[in-house]
Amino acid sequence: MARNKFDIDETLETPFNSKHLKRALVYTGKHKKNITAALIFSAFSIAIALLEPLIIRHAVDRAIPDSDYRLLVMLAIGLLTAVVTSVMLARMRTIIMTKVGQSVIYEIRRDVFAHLQKLSFEYYDSRPHGKILVRVINYINSVSDLMTNGIINFILEIFNLVFITVFMFIVSWRLALVVIAGLPLFAIFIFLIKNKQRKGWQAVSNKTSNLNAYLHESIRGVQITQLFAREKTNSELFDKLSRSYRKDWMYAIRYVHLLWPVSNFIEVIASVCVIAFGLLVFPGYVSLGTLIAMSGYAFRFWQPIINLSGLMNSFINAVAYLERIFELLDEPVVVNDIPDAAEMPEIKGDVEFKNVTFAYEDNINVLDHLSFAVKAGESIALVGPTGAGKTTIVNLISRFYNLNSGEILIDGSDISKVSLVSLRSQMGIMLQDSFIFSGTLMFNLKYGRLDATDAEVREACKIVGIHDYIMSLKSGYDTEVSERGQGLSGGQKQLISFARTILANPKILVLDEATSSIDAKTERNLQTGINYLLKGGSQSGRGRTSFIIAHRLSTIRNCDRIMYVSEQGITESGSHDELMAKKGDYYRLYTAQSFESEVAG
Ligand SMILES: Nc1ncnc2c1ncn2[C@@H]1O[C@H](COP(=O)(O)OP(=O)(O)O)[C@@H](O)[C@H]1O
Ligand SMILES: [Mg+2]
Repeated sequence: MARNKFDIDETLETPFNSKHLKRALVYTGKHKKNITAALIFSAFSIAIALLEPLIIRHAVDRAIPDSDYRLLVMLAIGLLTAVVTSVMLARMRTIIMTKVGQSVIYEIRRDVFAHLQKLSFEYYDSRPHGKILVRVINYINSVSDLMTNGIINFILEIFNLVFITVFMFIVSWRLALVVIAGLPLFAIFIFLIKNKQRKGWQAVSNKTSNLNAYLHESIRGVQITQLFAREKTNSELFDKLSRSYRKDWMYAIRYVHLLWPVSNFIEVIASVCVIAFGLLVFPGYVSLGTLIAMSGYAFRFWQPIINLSGLMNSFINAVAYLERIFELLDEPVVVNDIPDAAEMPEIKGDVEFKNVTFAYEDNINVLDHLSFAVKAGESIALVGPTGAGKTTIVNLISRFYNLNSGEILIDGSDISKVSLVSLRSQMGIMLQDSFIFSGTLMFNLKYGRLDATDAEVREACKIVGIHDYIMSLKSGYDTEVSERGQGLSGGQKQLISFARTILANPKILVLDEATSSIDAKTERNLQTGINYLLKGGSQSGRGRTSFIIAHRLSTIRNCDRIMYVSEQGITESGSHDELMAKKGDYYRLYTAQSFESEVAG
């Protein structure tokens, strides 16, 4: 089922909509000054280059027949100066526009990234991450060049066309008409090819997106792939995607390859027509120099037309890309601060669920009118079968998702009414598989509290019992680790994230199967660290409100209260002894586990 997701093409076949283009121009607009300068440089560069055929005409018609060597040398110097100036001006434009182009990429990407960071779990739960990557990297690259150089080129090519036409008419209006006569035919032809070409490239970019999505997921899941020895199947899948990419690329490139010979052919035909007409139809009407100059202009006349039709297509494409980019930027942040959200005051730790109903997908309620209350400082264990909704309950306390109905109150304030930052900065959540970012251990440890001192970091590591291990590493706390926490065992990663959480000193603590990857012995050693966390640090006597989800029931025996979560909601609640006495679901779970561990020794 998941595989089909990679085959879904993003529809890029959207009708041209100038709304997106206008919106993108806001980014370009910030660089108005530079763009105007570049435009002026280019305009001069083009105009000067167009003097070339005129200079040559003068040389052929005047200097050479009159044997006027002085004039010839002057004209040669003039020609050289024109070429050099024109090239230099063009070069200046390139330098300016490269800078502008990169700034635009940077600005769009910055906005997109900032937005991505805010999008809720719901967004990421529901789409291949590789496709998001393609938008942030490839699509932004593709459009930014158009938003900068594309716009300049568009103006310049029109400019160029007008200039050439004017020059041609100045030189000889009859021959100019000959050149222009071929225009409609050629324009239709170019339009047809370019349209095919555009569709071809759109298909290619769909395939790029699919390929990226699959590749990204494969890299993330490579361990599981190898575990199940699925390499062959995956390679075949990748092969299929790659082949389909290649096929579309070959189709698109066909039209590119068709365009150049055809346009070269037309350019040559145009020059030949000029000469033929000049010699045969209007004999004696034009000089040799004029003929040479005219065939030069005729040759150049087509270039802007070809370029303009190319640009038109690129703009149509860019609009499709822009739509994808803006779609991402417009993706509503569903979990968001209400207007004028209050700051969550320092949390004491009372938590209350009031008739909470929640569903990930429509009409499948994971929590149905759930109500319970926890007093500040209480440690709560959530136990129950997989899929019952334990993780969901704790995720809702941090407001990672919005409720369908009901309220969650912390110290009496509805958490949907306070700012997310003020809420989440006081929460500490540890998951089964902690994410280690690439960087040093010190960087990772300070992740939750940037202003922690190195001494505090060492202290936290001592509490969880990882300090000695870190010191045994060659670079100690400066040891570099990678995204997957390479070089660290699962348990060590977990200890690191325990230390990270201790440092962050959260007001409410959530351990979601946080000790699952730690062996029983290490866990017993870690107990001091956990107790420290539960007590809320040594400074305060009061405990820290904690929610602990653990499969190993020995871990949670000492919690103040144990809640048994099943599909029906919270069916049992009380201390270990109370629930044991009740002989209900918890009792059965516990006895089954003690039996297992006895058997296991
Ligand atoms: N991101 C999600 N999207 C859709 N359904 C989900 C998502 N996460 C969990 N669920 C569903 O919600 C239910 C509760 O899941 P969860 O809270 O993770 O259970 P537990 O932590 O108790 O094992 C399960 O039926 C699960 O399939
Ligand atoms: Mg869970």
